[in-house]
Amino acid sequence: MHPSACVEATEKLGNMLAVHFDQPGGPENLYLKEVAKPSPGEGEVLLKVVASALNRADILQRQGQYAPPPGASTILGVEASGHVVELGPGCQGHWKIGDPAMALLPGGGQAQYVTVPEGFLMPIPAGLTMPQAAAIPEAWLTTFQLLHLVGNVQAGDSVLIHAGVSGVGTAAIQLTRLAGAVPLVTAGSQYKIQMAEKLGAAVGFNYKEEDFSEAAMKFTKGAGVNLILDCIGGSYWEKNVNCLAADGRWVLYGLMGGNEVNGPLLSKLLFKRGSLISSLLRSRVKKYKQTLVKAFTEQVVPHFSTESTHRLRPVVDRVYPVAKIQEAHKYMESNQHVGKIALELPQ
Ligand SMILES: NC(=O)c1ccc[n+]([C@@H]2O[C@H](COP(=O)([O-])OP(=O)(O)OC[C@H]3O[C@@H](n4cnc5c(N)ncnc54)[C@H](OP(=O)(O)O)[C@@H]3O)[C@@H](O)[C@H]2O)c1
Repeated sequence: MHPSACVEATEKLGNMLAVHFDQPGGPENLYLKEVAKPSPGEGEVLLKVVASALNRADILQRQGQYAPPPGASTILGVEASGHVVELGPGCQGHWKIGDPAMALLPGGGQAQYVTVPEGFLMPIPAGLTMPQAAAIPEAWLTTFQLLHLVGNVQAGDSVLIHAGVSGVGTAAIQLTRLAGAVPLVTAGSQYKIQMAEKLGAAVGFNYKEEDFSEAAMKFTKGAGVNLILDCIGGSYWEKNVNCLAADGRWVLYGLMGGNEVNGPLLSKLLFKRGSLISSLLRSRVKKYKQTLVKAFTEQVVPHFSTESTHRLRPVVDRVYPVAKIQEAHKYMESNQHVGKIALELPQ
């Protein structure tokens, strides 16, 4: 059967296609499965998904290391873009049928339809494609939250951003600049550092070839960095604390470098009067996320427009049809990408 005929037949049965795995494990476990189309509950809308994007959380969930929060869809996908096609009871009238929107999700975005609390939807900035819009919610809301709500970034601060051209890193460089602060990045290749500098990084350190901590101390003329956005954890702890400025904030939001610390972390942190703060967005309560989405929509979304003097750009490395989900996961795990990997859903 032609793929579009197959999609039509699926929809006629009240079903949809969604990314699924039966057992935790490698990318080869992923496939598209026909599942029941969800119905919007109180205060929710139904979004017909045009595009979604991958996140490290998808890899961890597929491996059985990151369960979705209670009540969330078990389908992969924490962000999506598409069109509103149904309003649930009690919606406040902010959205109408046919509106294009992008959404932050606790799960369920890698499917043809997803239900979304209306307060998690954002307008799509003019001029962006659906895959570009799908690349915004998770990385940019995470970064906005880490910089402003958790890290209390101030104009003039030096901000060390690890995994500098990850999905989050590409947003963090730009939002650090928007805050009037100075982004320093680490990344695993010279090419990635060049990409980070194009996005606004003041300097980049190839962590495979140099000690980023010493390099950051040199760059800040011995003062150290005021804020660290750290998604690496264990393998970087000592270098992080060594280059933290007095009264600096170290925000831990991922553990790609492991979770073990062996050494005098506490004394090193104490003598700098440093703060170590951790943050996870996905498990936050609904009200917190709604407030975050509202603040981001008002303060950041206008800067994606071509007219903004501080124009922000979602960075999309590749777009895969969702049928190639296995390849998309393999590509993310190869660490070759710069920015986001997007997925297109069959229409
Ligand atoms: N807490 C939250 O709320 C939250 C929300 C979103 C994402 N996150 C976290 O943010 C991080 C980035 O997510 P993403 O989806 O943006 O990732 P991504 O685009 O897949 O990028 C990850 C990059 O990190 C680098 N990396 C991987 N392992 C590393 C290691 N052991 N040491 C140093 N660098 C390493 C690699 O680049 P190089 O080539 O430079 O090594 C890799 O390409 C993840 O840890 C994710 O879990 C947390």
